[in-house]
Amino acid sequence: MRILAISGSLRAASSNSRLIEALPRLAPAGVEVVIWRGLEGLPYFNPDLDVDPPPAPVAELRRQIGLAQGLVICSPEYAHGVSGAMKNALDWLVSSLEFPAIPLALINAAPRAVHAIAHLRETLATMSAAFVEEACVTVPLQGRDLTAADIPGAPGIGDLLTDAMARFCKALPALQAERLFGNGA
Ligand SMILES: Cc1cc2nc3c(=O)[nH]c(=O)nc-3n(C[C@H](O)[C@H](O)[C@H](O)COP(=O)(O)O)c2cc1C
Repeated sequence: MRILAISGSLRAASSNSRLIEALPRLAPAGVEVVIWRGLEGLPYFNPDLDVDPPPAPVAELRRQIGLAQGLVICSPEYAHGVSGAMKNALDWLVSSLEFPAIPLALINAAPRAVHAIAHLRETLATMSAAFVEEACVTVPLQGRDLTAADIPGAPGIGDLLTDAMARFCKALPALQAERLFGNGA
């Protein structure tokens, strides 16, 4: 099973990126978590560029989405919205054949960041993501000086994320079948 994980922050010391980097250590056995680090390399979304073939970084993002059975997103809040870099990546995925019905876990690294999560939910629902609600969690990571290696053992964070990943992976086989063959297959 392969899960793609994306941080919506470009900051070197990003808490969202540290959380994403901890996921391979938290995933159940047999599950590969692939971290996509191409956010900064995407061009600004422009429908005029969304042609066949698309820009190479866009093609690679879509290829990675197509290879994954599930997607995890963890993104910061800026000015009560989602980060521009994350929204840009999502805009490139709107017209992609790979994205609709992808099983999705939204993880929030900051309890106060309620607006970005709401915006992400609205956008991702419009894009027909399949939310795995039992895997969507908020953890109090922001402001804590934890490395990716510290996160699995951090009280109130590591256990929540481990449980969320376990619930996510449990839901994936059935959702993947729906994604590939549609309901009732
Ligand atoms: C320009 C700017 C605007 C921000 N706006 C908000 C906000 O509206 N709500 C919030 O909870 N945090 C806000 N923050 C705090 C960031 O979400 C916080 O620093 C977060 O840790 C950034 O994510 P990162 O650590 O993954 O880079 C803002 C930070 C910056 C630099």
